[in-house]
Amino acid sequence: MCAVSDDVQISVRKMDMRYRHETLLKDLNFDVHTQDVFVIMGESGCGKSTLLRHMIGLTRPRHGDIFYQGKSFWHCGPEQREEMMQHFGVMYQNGALWTSMTLVENVALPLKQFTTLTRRKIKHAVEFKLALVGLDGYGDYYPAELSGGMRKRAAIARAMALDPKILFFDEPSAGLDPINSKRLDELLLELRDNFGATIVVVTHELDSIFSIANNSIFIEPKVKSIIGRGNPKKLLETTDNPKIIEFLTRGERYE
Ligand SMILES: Nc1ncnc2c1ncn2[C@@H]1O[C@H](COP(=O)(O)OP(=O)(O)O)[C@@H](O)[C@H]1O
Ligand SMILES: [Mg+2]
Repeated sequence: MCAVSDDVQISVRKMDMRYRHETLLKDLNFDVHTQDVFVIMGESGCGKSTLLRHMIGLTRPRHGDIFYQGKSFWHCGPEQREEMMQHFGVMYQNGALWTSMTLVENVALPLKQFTTLTRRKIKHAVEFKLALVGLDGYGDYYPAELSGGMRKRAAIARAMALDPKILFFDEPSAGLDPINSKRLDELLLELRDNFGATIVVVTHELDSIFSIANNSIFIEPKVKSIIGRGNPKKLLETTDNPKIIEFLTRGERYE
């Protein structure tokens, strides 16, 4: 167990991540609280997606551990790990849906795989999830028939299929125009408010960072660790680190 307060969902402790012999990130320590919109920031290639893969239990850290509501993820049995993972909903970097399946089939898949719900209940659950992301009426469409923004929302409906407590998003608004990007941000906040979800997002979109995040970490590849944290607005007001200032202003302060 890890001594944490009740509202901590995820605790990362002394975590090191490596590819082969190369340390990518080291000594990561942070908490994600219930109903946080927690943003992982840093330049391209610094290890954000790799960190997310560790946080959803797909990769074992070289050192350290992750605790979900105080329970160790790596010092427990495979059944308990599987049980914990069922509370995670994930939308990967390119929001990949199964292209040969309709939206209904895509969202139903996790329910068929991981629950014993009847077909009728699955149908209702899928309709509800598609309506939630504004895609009611599109259940019979294939991903290729939808716009980029709709595909992202469909991927969120699938991530929500099992009513996860924690949602993980890797660059959710990549490739979207500003209007659809803003809609997606609003959807994430709705999911947090209406379902009490805790949300972890990898993003470098400044508009998103400042409008949705209440907490964050900033990763620096040279240091291979976290060099800033907290509410991004406060972080920008209080930091004197030029890297963070440059990232959070896109260098505009210096122009
Ligand atoms: N499977 C892998 N094997 C070895 N190196 C990898 C692998 N995946 C990613 N990397 C390297 O790890 C670093 C971090 O990658 P990534 O986590 O995707 O960064 P980000 O998401 O911040 O852009 C990159 O330098 C990348 O080249
Ligand atoms: Mg990435």
